[in-house]
Amino acid sequence: MNILILGSGGREHAFALKLSQSNKINQLFVAPGNAGTDKIAKNINISLTDFEAVKKTVLENEIKMVVVGPEVPLVAGIHDFFLADEDLKNIPVIGPKKDGALLEGSKDFSKQFMQKHGVPTARYQSFTKENLTEGFAFLETLAPPFVLKADGLAAGKGVLILNSLEEAKAELEEMVSNNKFGEASSTVVIEEFLKGIELSVFVLTDGKNYKILPSAKDYKRISEGDTGLNTGGMGAISPVPFADEAFLNKVEELVVKPTIAGLLKDGIDYRGFIFIGLMNDNGNPSVVEYNVRMGDPETEVVLPRIESDLFDLFDGVANQNLDEKSFKVTSKTATTVMLVAGGYPEAYEKNKEITGLENVTESTVFHAGTIIKDNKVVSNGGRVMAVTSFGDTIEEALEKSYRSIAKISFDKMNYRKDIGFDLI
Ligand code: AMP
Ligand code: GLY
Repeated sequence: MNILILGSGGREHAFALKLSQSNKINQLFVAPGNAGTDKIAKNINISLTDFEAVKKTVLENEIKMVVVGPEVPLVAGIHDFFLADEDLKNIPVIGPKKDGALLEGSKDFSKQFMQKHGVPTARYQSFTKENLTEGFAFLETLAPPFVLKADGLAAGKGVLILNSLEEAKAELEEMVSNNKFGEASSTVVIEEFLKGIELSVFVLTDGKNYKILPSAKDYKRISEGDTGLNTGGMGAISPVPFADEAFLNKVEELVVKPTIAGLLKDGIDYRGFIFIGLMNDNGNPSVVEYNVRMGDPETEVVLPRIESDLFDLFDGVANQNLDEKSFKVTSKTATTVMLVAGGYPEAYEKNKEITGLENVTESTVFHAGTIIKDNKVVSNGGRVMAVTSFGDTIEEALEKSYRSIAKISFDKMNYRKDIGFDLI
């Protein structure tokens, strides 16, 4: 069978590598892909929101399943587009339809969903410019720090955490009245600040049955010691040592089961991944957010730990018999460290030649922002590649990743030297 993966990051390279190991797959296509996916699949240079171009690609290449990496095409309704098209309606899409994608596409919707279905989460209210003064009043009932979230997609930048009430009020006004994050912030969710340690749990569901995938911890800030600007993610570790069996059981009972049951009850036929951002506060889980896709770079540690055939799991999602599929995870630890362009997440340069990749032997390099130019691998984004390694311990896996990184170089290459150190 031929499969198309949509996206161009380390996440999609990890999907491609894992799927390429399935003997049920004939040819893999990635759109638009990167220099890493180019080695194991055929890259197709189309825009992810150009659904007609996706259709053409699918029909021309006899593709029989589409795996959607990022949230934007899901929120824009790519799954609904397939179901409404005579030629595409029988081709399964791994990723929710518009109604399910709202769990990420609208923070207000996802908070309402959690409240309705009894999923533990921070107390909240939503505001627009019409009830701004009530928003100020709600802020006055909360203790600092204040958490303001743009309702819509804002490329990971829509959450503000502010220490002073004055600042919070001013930012709220900027968001709803002056479109600080465009249309995305015309509605703002204000919520209580959650204490604890953050981690992510990933679920694959066919709408009725689910598999809980390995948990992971992501490192979001650009600099060591979790300082500096927020990024898409600078590294990840799986499993998460503080997510022990007792905690993960609570996550399954209090979060995963009511989420799946809630989707069913609300008539949302959800086929795909649910990324649950959690706070662990003294052993009790509370949901920070849902995403309707896998995380990046979390995928680069979660998928390598899955020993089962990923295609078989996707087949279970498509045929709604995920419960019949075998699912095995290695107990080994996986770590990944992101190599980023100097300057990222602010302005940075592209087109830097990347050398030394052929000398990496004890890690897997997942490409993110890379392309091939004149037969050379060059950088093409802020997050350039993720270096993943296995070990019996976090230390052992990290030592391998850092030894591998020492062999790779490009102009102004930057990375965090302390991924996972807080867990050792
Ligand atoms: P989100 O886009 O919802 O994941 O928010 C971005 C980041 O802000 C999260 O990863 C958390 O670190 C932080 N955050 C969001 N909501 C809260 C909250 N209610 N309490 C504490 N931290 C939060
Ligand atoms: N690494 C966080 C995300 O994928 O949203």
